[in-house]
Amino acid sequence: MITLSTLNKYKKEGKKFSCLTCYDAMFAKMMENAAVDTILIGDSLGMVVQGHDSTLPVTIADMAYHTANVARSNKHALIMVDLPFMSYVTLEDAIANARTVMQAGAHVVKIEGGAELCDLVAKLAAAGTPTCVHLGLTPQSVNVFGGYKVQGKSDDSANKLLNDAKALVAAGAAIVLLECVPAALAKAVTAAVNVPVIGIGAGSDTDGQVLVMHDMLGVTHGRTARFVHDFLTDERNTARSVEGAFALYHQSVQEGSYPTEAHQFK
Ligand code: KIV
Repeated sequence: MITLSTLNKYKKEGKKFSCLTCYDAMFAKMMENAAVDTILIGDSLGMVVQGHDSTLPVTIADMAYHTANVARSNKHALIMVDLPFMSYVTLEDAIANARTVMQAGAHVVKIEGGAELCDLVAKLAAAGTPTCVHLGLTPQSVNVFGGYKVQGKSDDSANKLLNDAKALVAAGAAIVLLECVPAALAKAVTAAVNVPVIGIGAGSDTDGQVLVMHDMLGVTHGRTARFVHDFLTDERNTARSVEGAFALYHQSVQEGSYPTEAHQFK
């Protein structure tokens, strides 16, 4: 079974690890068979499962429901769960909502934001709840950004992101997740912190990679982000099976053949 200690050991050894989003029992079992290291029950479920235009309508009850479904059938992966939009604005809400998803089967809770989350991260850590802090393109703030855009492109925003990551780790964050940032910035953050860093659209130098399951199976409306690769139709997935796609993704991340330069932002 993969734990935070496993991921910390992988970081020290320079061994890459895989993460996929997952929302139900059957896919969770296939991910177990494919040895995927980490599962994220992402609030992306609002878009890929529920059909909303953003992650904002997702509730803590939705997250707990999908977490329990996944946790019941996958005993291998470290399970991370998003606290959804506006569910961790006050300390009281954050603690109650973190308890709900931890009791549903999460091992780590994921929250979006910068250094302003330091107090919360420290409180949760002290209460036995490790956090993954999501920086860069944080989809819950889509209305602040004015769209899903690459972040950290200017020197100022890159420095802020790097400092946020350092502050959050100093406060007790167990994992950093970087979404849609230039590869050079992700490399700098990965070198600067002593906890595992997971990237999506963040280049090949992070310790781990994550993709939304539907994207890497080619289950999209046709328009895909530049960092997405379809592992289902990849010719190396000789069985052309979903489980084969998960295994190929895991292997490609481990050996460093995914992501390539073509998948990254400069
Ligand atoms: O909710 C989600 O699926 C995520 C990933 C895009 C990292 O946060």
